[in-house]
Amino acid sequence: MAAKITIIGSINMDLVTTTKRFPNRGETLLGDDFQTIPGGKGANQAVAAAKLGADVSFVGCVGDDAFGDTLIKKLKSQGIFTGNVEPVTDVPTGIASITVAEGDNTIVVVPGANDHVTPEVICQNEETIKNSDVLLLQFEIPIESVTEAIRLANKHGVKTVLNPAPVRSIELSLLEKVDYITPNEHELNVMLDTEEKKEFYQQYREKFIVTQGAKGVVYVNGNQEVNVKGYQVNVVDTTGAGDTFNGGFSVALAEGKSVEEACTLGNVAGAISVTQFGAQTGMPTRKEVNKFLESDGD
Ligand code: RIB
Repeated sequence: MAAKITIIGSINMDLVTTTKRFPNRGETLLGDDFQTIPGGKGANQAVAAAKLGADVSFVGCVGDDAFGDTLIKKLKSQGIFTGNVEPVTDVPTGIASITVAEGDNTIVVVPGANDHVTPEVICQNEETIKNSDVLLLQFEIPIESVTEAIRLANKHGVKTVLNPAPVRSIELSLLEKVDYITPNEHELNVMLDTEEKKEFYQQYREKFIVTQGAKGVVYVNGNQEVNVKGYQVNVVDTTGAGDTFNGGFSVALAEGKSVEEACTLGNVAGAISVTQFGAQTGMPTRKEVNKFLESDGD
C-alpha cells in the first residue's frame, strides 16, 4: 500500500516571465517569454510526492475563479485527493509573480485565498491528518494554521515535516513540536534569531535537515554530521527544487525509510526537477529517480 501523506499549504498560479537579466529598480525591460504555470509551495510538494508514488491528500484554499479551477484540475490529474480544497468566494486564487533570468529567479507571492486556510479549516481536516503517515507543511499559509496542524498531528502520533519557506521567525514552542525542519542555509540563519533558538539547534540537530542545493544535504545522526551528496545537472530553472526535495524526503519517511534514504530521494528528485522549466513540470516519477540513481547521476 502506498504511504499516505497529507500536505497542507499554498496553491498558486505562477505568472512566469523569462528575461535575459533581472531589471534594475525603476527600469522597464523587454522580456523573452511569459507563461502561466501551476505552483505554490504546498501544491508543488503535493505533486512531487504523488509523482514519487505516495497517496496524497492536499488541504488548501483557492478563489472561486478560473485559476482556482485550473489548479484543482491539475492536482486531480496527478491523482491527488482534493476534496479538502475549499473554494473561497470574493477572494482571488493566490498568484506568484516570477522572473527567471541569469539561471536564477525572483518570486513575489500574493497569497489571496491561501490566507483563508484558517485554523478552523485545519480542524475540519483532523481525520485526514490522523490517517496520514506524514504531515508536510510550509509557511505560505497563516502561521496559526501551521501551529494547529502540528498540534493535531502530535495528538495522533503523525510524523511532521516543516519546510520553513518563505522563511520567517518561528516560535521555539513550534520548533519543539516538529519532527523534521528542512531549511536551506539562508533560512536556517534567519530562523535562529535568538540565543535560545541557537541553543535549541545545537541540542536538537537531528531535527534539522539543511539543504545546500547541488552540494547536497547536511543532518546529524547521533553525534555524527552526515553529508548526503547532491548532484551536478544541467540547470534550466530552479523554481520548485526545494519543494521537490521536501516531497521526496516526506515520501521516503512515510515509507519508513531512514533519514539518509529520505535525503537521497529528495536530492535526486530535486536535481532532476531543475533540468526542466517550471516548478511542477520537471518533477520525476519514482522510475525516473531509480534510473538516475542506477547511473549515479551521470
Ligand atoms: O517554491 C516555488 C513556489 O514558490 C512557486 O511555485 C510559487 O508559487 C511560490 O509559492
